[in-house]
Amino acid sequence: MTDLLVINANLFRISDNLKKPRTKEQLKELFPIENGAFAVNDGKFIDIGSTKELLKKYSHKTKEVVDAKNRAILPGFVDPHTHALFKGTRENEFKMRLEGKSYMEILNAGGGILNSVKNIRNSNIDELAENLAKRVKLFFVYGTTTFEAKSGYGLDFENEIKMLEAIKKVNLETDAEIIPTFIGAHAIPYEYRNNKKAYIDIIINEMIPYIAEHKLAEFIDVFCEKGVYSAEETKMILTAGMEYGLKAKIHSDEIEAIGCTELAKEIKMFSCDHLLKITNRGLNALKSTDTIATLLPGTAFSLKEKYAPARAIIDYGIAPAIATDCNPGSSYSESMPEIITLSVMQMGMTPEEALSAATINAAYAIDKAEHIGSIDIGKQADFIILNENSYLFIPYHYGINPVNSTYKKGVKVAFSANN
Ligand code: NIG
Ligand code: FE
Repeated sequence: MTDLLVINANLFRISDNLKKPRTKEQLKELFPIENGAFAVNDGKFIDIGSTKELLKKYSHKTKEVVDAKNRAILPGFVDPHTHALFKGTRENEFKMRLEGKSYMEILNAGGGILNSVKNIRNSNIDELAENLAKRVKLFFVYGTTTFEAKSGYGLDFENEIKMLEAIKKVNLETDAEIIPTFIGAHAIPYEYRNNKKAYIDIIINEMIPYIAEHKLAEFIDVFCEKGVYSAEETKMILTAGMEYGLKAKIHSDEIEAIGCTELAKEIKMFSCDHLLKITNRGLNALKSTDTIATLLPGTAFSLKEKYAPARAIIDYGIAPAIATDCNPGSSYSESMPEIITLSVMQMGMTPEEALSAATINAAYAIDKAEHIGSIDIGKQADFIILNENSYLFIPYHYGINPVNSTYKKGVKVAFSANN
């Protein structure tokens, strides 16, 4: 017996045939199968082919058949950069920004990230887990089957750990697959505003060893930015994390270029994220590595900034991923379809490039391409059925949810009313 047979699909497998992140022309190949089908057992794809062929092989021995009715099927979206665990929202700051205040002005005045820190410190693990579990449902509804989530709103030992424990709890208690990242260096805590060095010491000597020992995070990240953490401090913190087995990624060139992306040449970085202000030096640095450029167009949209130069990044042969950056400050959205739309309409990516960036390359950005990010035999059966027969409807029929249903490990975890 097999668990599930999906038939009559306009299938876009986005296969991981290369076994490495896609660049340049490779980004355009979606591996379509018209009238396609696949079989799932034990949460994994076990066979992929034509409807005719798979009906013959499995129709007599499958527990369930799903008729996709010629709708498009894609791998579930992978969102490789979020701050999805937060309490409270910051719409008042959004209004201030609409009235002309900048993101950094608000942060420097004790708001922004520091505002969210107060809410985290006032909540317990159960409250945080409950909050995150609700958000997981929204990610599923919009087609995201795996996402990364960062700490970074605790900014002290107890609260950074609390955030990571809450992520762990949601992973254990729900269908979610959340990849945890430690970003103690997300801002300078208010109580250390005149003594950043002392806080960095705590990150390096107390937080990192505990987090590594208790396996609470897989990645370490730093907000490398003018007025936050310098390139030199970033290098110190990432190196300390890597000594404990954490994998490095950074926020770089988001507001200003201060030489952070260039660190990719010295440190093995899985991704450099944002890159709105990336310079030629940054582009050259990434070009010489296999670091992924994770682009977050929702942030440029919400901060009314110029978008990252996706075309230049692709032309340089750098592998792009795209992500929501879901957070209450600079980009409040759980929707990868929205991010695909912005990538196509504002960053000049083709729909095919954006889809590769939202699936297989996104999986590489969080080092999970071995089991997610494409529809390939042996991979986890994470897939989405769209309402229409083409992925073009994602940017074309924008502003609505194009996802009909979402499956995680072969189990339906969300469906829209639009059947
Ligand atoms: O990626 N810039 C740093 N971190 C987030 C924003 C977090 C927040 O404002 O709450 C970002 O833009
Ligand atoms: Fe971020």
